[in-house]
Amino acid sequence: MRGLERHGIEAVAAFDRFFDRVPILPFDRHANIGLCGNPVPARAVRSPDRRPCPGDGPDAGDQQRSRLRRHPRPDHRELDAVTFRATILTLYPEMFPGPLGHSLAGRALREERWALETVQIRDFATDKHRSVDDTPAGGGAGMVLRADVLAAAVDSVADDRPVLAMTPRGRPLTQPRVRELAAGPGVTVLCGRFEGFDERLFDARGIEQVSIGDYILSGGEMGALVLLDACVRLLPGVMGAASSGVEESFESGLLEYPQYTRPAEWEGRTIPEVLRSGDHAKIAKWRHARACEDTRSRRPDLWERHEGVRVGRPLARGDD
Ligand SMILES: C[S@@+](CC[C@H](N)C(=O)[O-])C[C@H]1O[C@@H](n2cnc3c(N)ncnc32)[C@H](O)[C@@H]1O
Repeated sequence: MRGLERHGIEAVAAFDRFFDRVPILPFDRHANIGLCGNPVPARAVRSPDRRPCPGDGPDAGDQQRSRLRRHPRPDHRELDAVTFRATILTLYPEMFPGPLGHSLAGRALREERWALETVQIRDFATDKHRSVDDTPAGGGAGMVLRADVLAAAVDSVADDRPVLAMTPRGRPLTQPRVRELAAGPGVTVLCGRFEGFDERLFDARGIEQVSIGDYILSGGEMGALVLLDACVRLLPGVMGAASSGVEESFESGLLEYPQYTRPAEWEGRTIPEVLRSGDHAKIAKWRHARACEDTRSRRPDLWERHEGVRVGRPLARGDD
């Protein structure tokens, strides 16, 4: 790496070490993300009471002020500091916060219940073309992300948080793993592109490989957004009703029971009578029976695992 670039990175690292001692705010070190999701000048935004971002529209400031009035900043005696920090290593930092700037996650970001930063992987390339990839060893189509470049990016943010790489070759993401991650200090997530990563990277840096399902995305950014959304909704104070996270699908190893709401009759279809009976014991029994029935028929894999756990059968490898 050329001297000046190295200096730049070291200076940023020192800067960030300083700021790590205060609550991390929702913007990043290289391509800062404003509260509206637009890139903004470095360290320009330090509180939700910011000026509107370009592209917010003429009355965005007013809208934001009124949003902030409705959702006041949390009391810092209660929060103390941001406990969940997400760092995304990507070739496309502008894809963040994307959808995570809206709804529950977006409000939590503005309220500093979690923090997000992006790191441009290309900043760690060492040649004049800023290359991050090369042809696959052994031949074949496409390009592979280089271990040396990616390792330098990972090393630049190394701390006590787990480092995850999004890859279809990884272990499928599950709700128990999401709960563990959400209870920790946060995550560093590596987003792949092209044909993926040089395999040597994972062992060399103790990186956990995570898949979000048996299909192929064009890049890891969508996977990272999915992972973060799943974690952030579990952070203290993010969801409205404390119970709404506990009864969801997968929390007890089953799919959730079906839900209904008003009107009681719609296009000739009615809501199951028991749900209108007011008998809570009966309702709970019906819901449990439907959760079992639907899990058995829709997700035999989950059902088998649930039954195995219930009768104390040992888990197959990869089931935990
Ligand atoms: C086109 S994919 C590479 C697929 C790879 N050649 C394979 O067959 O396993 C490019 C990147 O998208 C991301 N990606 C694609 N599908 C994914 C999935 N199901 N889960 C997590 N990440 C995925 C990964 O970061 C991956 O490196």
